[in-house]
Amino acid sequence: MIGIKDLKKSYGRHEALKGISFSIKEGEFYGLLGPNGAGKTTAISIMSSILKPDSGEVLINGNNIYSNPGETKKIIGVVPQEIALYNELSANENLMFWGGMYSVPERELKDRKNELLDLFGLTDRKNDKVANYSGGMKRRINIAAALLHRPRVLFMDEPTVGIDPQSRNLIFEVTEKLHHDGMTIIYTTHYMEEAERLCNRIGIIDKGQIIAEGTLEELKKNSPAKETIVVTFNNLDDQVAQRLFSSRKNSKRSGNTIYFYTSDLKKDLPPVITQCQEAGAEINQIEFQKVNLETIFLSLTGKQLRD
Ligand SMILES: Nc1ncnc2c1ncn2[C@@H]1O[C@H](COP(=O)(O)OP(=O)(O)OP(=O)(O)O)[C@@H](O)[C@H]1O
Ligand SMILES: [Mg+2]
Repeated sequence: MIGIKDLKKSYGRHEALKGISFSIKEGEFYGLLGPNGAGKTTAISIMSSILKPDSGEVLINGNNIYSNPGETKKIIGVVPQEIALYNELSANENLMFWGGMYSVPERELKDRKNELLDLFGLTDRKNDKVANYSGGMKRRINIAAALLHRPRVLFMDEPTVGIDPQSRNLIFEVTEKLHHDGMTIIYTTHYMEEAERLCNRIGIIDKGQIIAEGTLEELKKNSPAKETIVVTFNNLDDQVAQRLFSSRKNSKRSGNTIYFYTSDLKKDLPPVITQCQEAGAEINQIEFQKVNLETIFLSLTGKQLRD
């Protein structure tokens, strides 16, 4: 349904996208997972024809979105990372405005708007100014605005950042329902829990490149690290940490903790403990973690998703 080929985009001398390609099937829930500045917003803005790439191609339903923007715009909805609402207007008025922008006929718009206010639990507050809404309520209206014209494809750019857990859960539930009812969804996030919970397929993006792609099972199967040995020390000075790193490259430090990635826990555990003792570091605790998206990202890039 969606084909992205070799997209490149620079801002001045900074290459935000270095040639990304992937395809998304109809009805898929595709996640773009990556840290701040990875290029998620740039990619989603190009895919939803808000921004032009320097080169590359986006096909939606066989249409090149730049040569045929009208056709594409009818079937896509976009939830931008930055909330796009008028603070001085109510939720009701904002939705009427966005319905007009998406050319929803007026008689349909009223019912559709009420249906969405209900779906997002905002019917009671619909006449209050958006300025008086919580962050979570603004997010919910921001998503509702993108759904007024019943799009078949929905682009969501980090829709849960900085909101209360209740709004977050509601957004998950609504998004899962939309997907269940057949919508194709492209969802960016830097929370691995969200990608794991929601997405059928995940593209891991870093520094403008897709560094791994697949279902969660495929990503885990292909990961160089299968397990992590998490060693917390009573005290870890830089020199000792340095000594440990020089003996074991596949590791990452965070405060008094070092994460050792391994494809063979039984084989690697004894030498890791010996090396820690030889380096003069006093171990406080050892834990084991099964591979997850965070460890996959760490083992591929040496960074944490939320560094
Ligand atoms: N308008 C712009 N002008 C200059 N540089 C930009 C512009 N927009 C983005 N960038 C840079 O391009 C890179 C990719 O930005 P982008 O917003 O696509 O990343 P992101 O993955 O969405 O990050 P975040 O998680 O912070 O939203 C970043 O280094 C960013 O600073
Ligand atoms: Mg972004």
